[in-house]
Order: sequence, then structure tokens, then C-alpha cells
Amino acid sequence: MNNRKMRAFMSTLMLATAMTMAPLNAAGNPVVAATATLARPWMDTSLSAEARTDLLLREMTVDEKKTLVYGYFGSPFKERNYAPPAGVRMGSAGYIPGIERLGIPAQWQTDAGLGVATQRDSTEPMRERTSLPAGIATVATWNPALARQGGAMIGKEARLSGFNVMLAGGVNLVREPRNGRNFEYGAEDPLLAGIMVGAQISGIQSNNIISTIKHYALNAQETGRFVLSANIDEAGARMSDLLAFEIAMERSNPGSVMCAYNRYNGDYACENDFLLNKVLKGDWGYKGYVMSDWGAVHSTAKAANNGLDQESGYIFDKEMFFGADLLGKALADGSVPMARLDDMNRRILRALFDHGVMDNPVAVEDHKIDYAAHAKITRADAEEGIVLLKNQGGLLPLAAGASKIAVIGGYADKGVMSGGGSSTVFGRGGNPVPGLGPKNFPGPIVFHANPPLAAIQARAGGNVAFDTGTDPTAAAKLAADSDLAIVFVNQWTGEAMDFALTLPDNQDALVAAVAKANKRTIVVVQSGGPVFMPWLKEVGAVLAAWYPGSAGGEAIARVIYGEVDASGRLPVTFPASLDQLPRPKLDGEGLPDGTKFDVSYGEGAAVGYKWFDQKGYKPLFAFGYGLSYTRFAYKDLKASVGTDGTLTLSGSVTNIGERAGKAVPQLYVGPATGGWEAPKRLAGWQKLELASGASSRFTVPVDARLLATFDVAKNEWVVKPGRYKVWLGASATDLPVTTEVTLKGGRFSAVKAN
Ligand code: BGC
Repeated sequence: MNNRKMRAFMSTLMLATAMTMAPLNAAGNPVVAATATLARPWMDTSLSAEARTDLLLREMTVDEKKTLVYGYFGSPFKERNYAPPAGVRMGSAGYIPGIERLGIPAQWQTDAGLGVATQRDSTEPMRERTSLPAGIATVATWNPALARQGGAMIGKEARLSGFNVMLAGGVNLVREPRNGRNFEYGAEDPLLAGIMVGAQISGIQSNNIISTIKHYALNAQETGRFVLSANIDEAGARMSDLLAFEIAMERSNPGSVMCAYNRYNGDYACENDFLLNKVLKGDWGYKGYVMSDWGAVHSTAKAANNGLDQESGYIFDKEMFFGADLLGKALADGSVPMARLDDMNRRILRALFDHGVMDNPVAVEDHKIDYAAHAKITRADAEEGIVLLKNQGGLLPLAAGASKIAVIGGYADKGVMSGGGSSTVFGRGGNPVPGLGPKNFPGPIVFHANPPLAAIQARAGGNVAFDTGTDPTAAAKLAADSDLAIVFVNQWTGEAMDFALTLPDNQDALVAAVAKANKRTIVVVQSGGPVFMPWLKEVGAVLAAWYPGSAGGEAIARVIYGEVDASGRLPVTFPASLDQLPRPKLDGEGLPDGTKFDVSYGEGAAVGYKWFDQKGYKPLFAFGYGLSYTRFAYKDLKASVGTDGTLTLSGSVTNIGERAGKAVPQLYVGPATGGWEAPKRLAGWQKLELASGASSRFTVPVDARLLATFDVAKNEWVVKPGRYKVWLGASATDLPVTTEVTLKGGRFSAVKAN
């Protein structure tokens, strides 16, 4: 009998024994599971994840323990002559071999938050998968149910593509509007970011796979990301970027946290005792594991002792810091205690148990992916995330049927744009606009083959002409001969780079020329974040479509034609000029590669609208802003304090327009006499669908941390007693209804009760 047969025989024998002697549980059924898994008692699903982990850990040799803490890049890396080990899912982000003897599966890791991505150097054909709209678009829906649904969808595609770890969950605050990765993140406010990204992660993990929240922490710009030190005072960080992580994690329990490339107050994030040991594992009581970003590890003992649990993506780090040799030496000389190796393994295994990875093995079953159903999910996300920024004289929505329309620019005849870098999903049908952008990472620019032009043509009765927009004069001529013009302008952004807020390739001149020729000009902006709009006054309507994903062309057309309301709201402030930013000049720009530098986040927690409020600056468009095709009125604002001290806000919103629509009533709070980083903070919101004339009441309990400042010396949140102002309305600068409330004040620990 060979080994495998012997194992099968043994377990049949054990099962038979179990059947005869099985005790009965409370429901009177024999308890079979516990005994059937005697050979591998950790596979007993009636035990807790902790108990199962302990049982398994006890069986592991030191070599096996070293295996689980060291990951490989899952794709060839031509520049370094690297070929990934057997067992990887080719073209993927990462791979940690399993341990067959103990039934521990390999960890197959895939990027990222928009869907199943493929690395560019893959030797096999690109995986073509459904792409959600950019993270910033999902956050712009202000609809956590959609974020969860999108997460569940991409998590399912990950599972059916053979992945059990998804490197999704980018929750970095948009501190720097030029950051090339803002499209992966999405909000400048910790409550909005935390709730939306938390919802996405819990959707992903509903597939019995792990999702990774990232990039922890303060990875707020790409320029100099490998070397810069993000310097910020602790209280400011606790009330902003760290709070976004904290809220998202409370809502989703991610199996893993990815530490960032950058340094944080001097120390690299992946060997940062404060971030990893003190805050994450200490105060927040995090029980999952910390994986490094790809190339973010700089030491063995320091990283291990300061909280890193798994080094990712061999070949990116300079040395194999957690590889068998270096880690072995460190264990031998005691600079990394064996207990720490156990803890790393305990955390990884616990996550595998806790999230169902051990009990629900993944396999490549991509034939089972229901792309038609998934297209509907991504479309719903995209269309709720599109923000109507201007709509003069009710130019939009367009009536379906015959009118002469000029569609101009942005490759709208071919598809919709996506952001660049590790998160890029290659859509079904391939890239319809090949050859654009950088040849190497984070390029090329990838489009999804869902052209807005076709979707507009389908609704406009065929009377639609297209002009590429490369020659503004020709485009203007077409616009002049048309009833209206729809101009598509694109700003590609991507990982590893930051971007100016000015549209590239003369597109501002294109819009200006078209608008001059035809006042009925609608501009559709595809971008990863805020852009300047020097032509704003000249055009009739503007839509921020972000990168709208696999069904983006359809989604844009559905909003333009009013098949759905325009219900996205800005999750970021659009500045009017660079002078309005805390750092008008991007730190590190122009420095030779590898030169270390500091970025001082002196604004602390005053990120985005808070900064603008504090300074009294008037943005181009405010946080929370976005028009609807109908109008809403807000009233009945009440603030009440419960016996336990919880502040609850309530109000009502009425659709006073002619059409059904979706309102996003927003509630803000701030101390009447100041003392915070800014006059007010977002305290909650609702997304409500309302028929014309209908009203709805809403109630929002306020997270006590949003009423507090952080006392570093005592490691406590402090709510000052006194009068607080509460606002209700449509954006951070349109808050017509106010009230006041008195809070008794109090303190509570930053350390979470377990
Ligand atoms: C990115 C991560 C990504 C990883 C693996 C890194 O360059 O910063 O977000 O998950 O690569 O592809």
C-alpha cells in the first residue's frame, strides 16, 4: 500500500470506528467530525480557529514553519532573470508553498481591489476577468451594499481562478491628489474610507478566501515611495489614516494586513514597532498576519521582532530576509526568538482557518465564472459612482431618440480607461487600445472593451458621429454641426508614479474648442482622482466617471440618458489650484532615485475638506458634492444623547423634484468653540432611493472616535464636554440645516477590549 492509499485506509477505518462509538450531540446526532479527523485533528471544524491552529502548530517542524513566512513572486521577472517556482498560478502576484504532509494549502495571492489582475510579464495569456470601477468610483457611490457586492463578485472570480488570498482593500487616505494610486483607494475621510473599504473586504472574504488590507500606513504618494519617511504626529495619524484602517478592519476582519513601502516617522513600515506591534497588534488586538509589500522588507531581526509575519514576493527584496538561511541564522543566534517564528505561523494559520481557506480548497475553475451576471454588478457600481458635477439648464439627462450627437475623444469608440500598475485587470475581449503609455510597469494603458460610443449610439437612434479629438479644429467643426457634443477626456494614472492635475495631451484645448463651437457640450472625465477644469464655465455639463470598469461604457450611457439617477458624490475634494494644497510642490520630485527624504504631514488629521475648511479655501468641487437629476430638501435634524452617552443624529430628506432619484444626506459634527483639526468632520450618511415627492427619515449613531481627539500620553480618546454643532446637507460646503447638542464628554482607551 502506498502512502496515499494507507492514509485513505486509515481514515476509513477511523470513520468506521467513529460511527460505532460516536457520542451524541445536543441535537441527538452522532459527533462524527471530531473523530473522523483524528489523523488531522486540526481539521475538526467544530473547534475554534485558535484551537485548530494550536493543534496544527504543534505538528510543525522548524523548517515547515520557515516555509510559511516566505513568499515568491508568482510571475517571471525578465529584468532579473527570475522564473517563479513550480506551483504558482502563473502571472500572479505571489505564492507561498503549502505543506502537503499537514494538509496546509499553498497561498496563491492575486492582486487586487478591482478584480483579478495579471502581471504583465506573464508567459501565459492574460487572465481576462471582470473589472470593477476604480476604488475611488466605488467609494463615490457612498453605498456600502454595492461595495460589498462588488467585493463578493471579485472574490468569487479570485476563488474560481485558483486564488485564496486577494491583495485588495486599499484604504490609504487621499492626502495627496496627485498620488498615482488614488484610483485604488478612494476617500480623504476616514469614516467614508473605512466603511466602504471594510464592506468590500467583507464581500471578498465571503468566498472563504483572505483579503489583505493595505498599504499600512501613510503610503500617500508614489514619488519616492521606497525611501520617503511619512512624518506625522501620533494624534494626527490616529485621527486620520490609522482610523481609516481601524474602522475598515473592525467591519471586515481582514485575514492579512500589508505593510507599506515607505518609512513612517523614520522606520520602514514593515519593521515599524509602533505601527505593527504597538498599534495594530497591541491596541487593536489584531490576530491576523502582516505581509510585506513586494520589496518592502529591509531586515531580518528588526522586521521579525517589530511585527512582520510574512515576507512577500521573492525577488523584490534586496536579500531573502525571511528566507531559510537568514531567518535560520537569526533563530540560531537568538536575534529572532523561536517564539516569534511560532507567532508568525500562528497568525498565518489562524487566518487560513478563520476565513475558511483550510476547509474550502481553491481550484482553477474559471469556466464557472458567470461573466454576464458579474457585468451587471460592475455596471451597477460604476453607474452609482459617476458624479454629475455640472448640469446647466438641465442639459442632462438626454432624451433617448434622434438628435445629432458628436462624440469626441478619449477612445470612446473603443472602450473605457483603467488605472495602471499591479491592480490592472485585463478585461474580457482584450485591450482595445494597445500601445499606449509606458512600455514597462505601470504601463501599458489598458482599456476595457465596453465603448461608450456604442452605448450612446444604441440610445440616440444612430445619429451619432465620432471624432478622435486629436485635432481640436476638426472636433469643433463636428460639434458645430451637431445638436450637442459629448467630449471624453482621459487622465491615466498608475502605480509607482504621481501625476499633475492638468489633463494631458492638449485635452483642455480640445474641450475649450468644442465648447466654443457648441454650448451644449457634455464632458465625461475619466481620471483616477481630481483634475483641473479650466473650461468648466464654458461647458454645459460635466460627469466624473473615474475609471468605470468592465461595463463602464454602458454605465456612462445609462447615466447620460437618465436610465438611472446621477447619484455619485465626491469622496475627495477637487482643489481649484495647487496653492490650496498643504504641499503645493510634491516632495521628492526631481530627486535622484533612491535619495531618502521626509514628507512632513504637518496638517495632521486635517485631510481634504478639513484642510480646506480650516484654511477657508474654496475648492473647485467640495467633498460630498454631486448633483442628481432631481432635487432634495433636508430637515428635522435632531441630535440626541443616549443614556450610554452615544450621540445619535437623525433627519429627513424629501425628493422635491419631478423624478425618482438617490439622495446622499450627509451629517457633519464639530465643537462649537473649536479645538479639533478642523471645524467639522463627517459623522455619517445614508444613501436613499426616493420617488418624486417621497420623504425618508434616517438615523445615524455617531462613532465616539469621531467626537474625540487623541491623547497620546494616556493612549486614550478624549471627548471634550461642551456644545457641539451638527450639520445636515448635501456636501461639506452645502449644509443648510444645523442644530446643537451638549456632550458630557469622557475618555476611552485606544486599546480594544477583546
Ligand atoms: C504593490 C501592491 C501589490 C504588490 C503585488 C506592489 O508593487 O504596491 O499593492 O499588491 O505589488 O503585486
